[in-house]
Amino acid sequence: MNLEEIGPVVLVGAGKMGLALARGWVAGGLPANQLVLVDPKPLEPTVAFAREHGIRLVTTPLGILTHVMVLAVKPQVMKQVMAEIQPAVGPHTLVLSIAAGISLKILANGLFTERVVRAMPNTPAQVGKGITGAVGLHVTEGDREVVNALLQAAGAVMWFDAESKLDAVTAVSGSGPAYVFYMVEALAVAAMRQGLEPGQAMQLARQTVVGAAALMEADPQPVSVLRENVTSPKGTTAAALQVLMGPDGLERLIDRAVLAARMRSEELGRE
Ligand SMILES: NC(=O)c1ccc[n+]([C@@H]2O[C@H](COP(=O)([O-])OP(=O)(O)OC[C@H]3O[C@@H](n4cnc5c(N)ncnc54)[C@H](OP(=O)(O)O)[C@@H]3O)[C@@H](O)[C@H]2O)c1
Repeated sequence: MNLEEIGPVVLVGAGKMGLALARGWVAGGLPANQLVLVDPKPLEPTVAFAREHGIRLVTTPLGILTHVMVLAVKPQVMKQVMAEIQPAVGPHTLVLSIAAGISLKILANGLFTERVVRAMPNTPAQVGKGITGAVGLHVTEGDREVVNALLQAAGAVMWFDAESKLDAVTAVSGSGPAYVFYMVEALAVAAMRQGLEPGQAMQLARQTVVGAAALMEADPQPVSVLRENVTSPKGTTAAALQVLMGPDGLERLIDRAVLAARMRSEELGRE
């Protein structure tokens, strides 16, 4: 299925993530007249995007009927938003929520439908290089195809058969870009400690991660092989990796970080 043929889509919450998705849909072929953006206080980028493509931008979902409703509001306002949009949701509506920590059960109870998919994207969606984890326990294969078409506009999609897996997805790929950005910051600090100017230190660190990511994307070999390709025996990289791969090295640290994120995700889901 492609975006030209999925029919009308209503996006509730056209903020950072919602707008990133909407941009991907329009770029991917969703006709502008098949999209409605709902946002009570749209920010300038959203207003400009709607104006540029002639997309309807409204402040309330009242009176809107659609086949596909995408919810991209903050979790804190989801209850209120569900109450607002519930009259517009019926058995004909497929709902896709990307709100962190809002369970399928909460969505089904709030919208009186089980035709719901919960997904966890990440911010590289803004440049079409995201990865999204998705779970839909009571949706058809056709519904999944619609969701795939929508989410693939932002990058890759991975389906799971248990909702609990989304806490792990949140901890790995949802929050993951921040871990990588922090690594760039740490590398830049280390560079400054070795006497490099701050600007040069940041440029070296930043472009190293951009370049490594691009190389990883272009080269299908296992990541461990890419790492070994940089590491000559007894060389400089080997010296650094001995530290990073030591008993209290990066693996342990990342393991603890991901565990903390997963536990926080579970906790948010219970709030
Ligand atoms: N950013 C990420 O990395 C990421 C990753 C995975 C999932 N998510 C999820 O994506 C969702 C959106 O996150 P975000 O970063 O895009 O947040 P955001 O930029 O704040 O976007 C949310 C948008 O929804 C609007 N909104 C608030 N109340 C509304 C209502 N009643 N009806 C329609 N729209 C309403 C907000 O307007 P106001 O600004 O006026 O409140 C805002 O424009 C969150 O649930 C988050 O958990 C985000």
